[in-house]
Amino acid sequence: MAGEEFFSNTMKDLREKKLEWTLKSLETASGARGTVEGKKVIIFCSNNYLGLSNHPALKKAAIEAVKKYGAGSGSVRGIAGTMDLHLKLEKEIAKFKGTEAATYYQTGFAVNAGMIPAMMLEGDLIISDELNHGSIIDGMRLSKAERMVFGHKDMEKLKALLEESDKKNYGKKLVVTDGVFSMDGDIAPLDKIERTAHEHNAMVYVDDAHGDGVLGAKGKGIVHHFHLQNKIEFEMGTFSKAFGVMGGYVCGKKEICDFAYNKSRTWLLSGSSPPATVAACIASLKLLEKNESFVKKLWKNTAYFKQKLKALGFDTGQSETPITPIMLGESATAVQFSQNLFREGVFALPILFPMVARDKARIRTMVSAAHSKEDLDEALGKFEKIGKELKVLA
Ligand SMILES: Cc1ncc(COP(=O)(O)O)c(C=O)c1O
Repeated sequence: MAGEEFFSNTMKDLREKKLEWTLKSLETASGARGTVEGKKVIIFCSNNYLGLSNHPALKKAAIEAVKKYGAGSGSVRGIAGTMDLHLKLEKEIAKFKGTEAATYYQTGFAVNAGMIPAMMLEGDLIISDELNHGSIIDGMRLSKAERMVFGHKDMEKLKALLEESDKKNYGKKLVVTDGVFSMDGDIAPLDKIERTAHEHNAMVYVDDAHGDGVLGAKGKGIVHHFHLQNKIEFEMGTFSKAFGVMGGYVCGKKEICDFAYNKSRTWLLSGSSPPATVAACIASLKLLEKNESFVKKLWKNTAYFKQKLKALGFDTGQSETPITPIMLGESATAVQFSQNLFREGVFALPILFPMVARDKARIRTMVSAAHSKEDLDEALGKFEKIGKELKVLA
């Protein structure tokens, strides 16, 4: 078949370099512990930060929505696929975030890939942190705007690029950043970005995928963490991580959300989320609004786990959030570390080049509010054992 060798050559190359993603299937609900390919494990690589994906309130909401509305929505949102549930969810998102309005998408990826090219046109400028998520990068690639990239969290460079942009005649300007960076778990200096961008007449777009349910009072995200309400033009996020369900949103001024309805192709041209998903998202927001214990437990677990890892002698990099990398250097060490952990009943995945620099391979652990102290202690014992076995620890 024509072109067949492209696929076999690419896969051969990935396999030789040990960079092929091999999928491990989870045979239970996502939680602190589960069964992966027949083996009972403590899970340390899920984005289910608050343990909500299997929460009874979310499951009940989903089941009731199926009974009332059925399994699917029947259409794209713009035609016959907007149910009252979708509109209710958008109101709840805006209320939770403290913005005028919100537009709910099928995924967070669809927000970035749809919203950025729809609004940033020829003659505009997008300035992006070099470590921004792939969905932002794809959104930028689909845009006809000019693009500039600044070094990770390098505020001097951002300022210099904005100064340079003042000398040219751009239409709109947009600074775009992840809120929490998913490989290192560090937080964008959104207060500085906001100040610098607005001094140069640029708008700010923040991806709160890993800040939702994690940062700020009640887990309201990075904008609340920095007390920047009403100052950031575009907040986007996802329901697929701490909120425990699926879906994305952009929130801000009503005109922006109406624009998203009208111009964003990933929203306009793709079927809307099923009722069970939407109802579970609503339940998740309501739970967080009235119960802060999930977020508090997440941070308590995070502090405990990080402090114990450091005491054992592991390098946890720049992390400031529940995303806790264990820096190992060589890819081969990280792969071996993950395999040995799995053997010992801990599920945590290696992050390798090209996702991170060649010499920055790591095991990325994700702490969850669902973990008990026993889960954390048992896992720490295994990390120590493998660390010594592979001579990462003395
Ligand atoms: C920073 C960031 N933005 C966007 C997304 C996409 O979100 P979703 O899973 O809802 O498509 C992710 C998910 O990996 C992410 O980490």
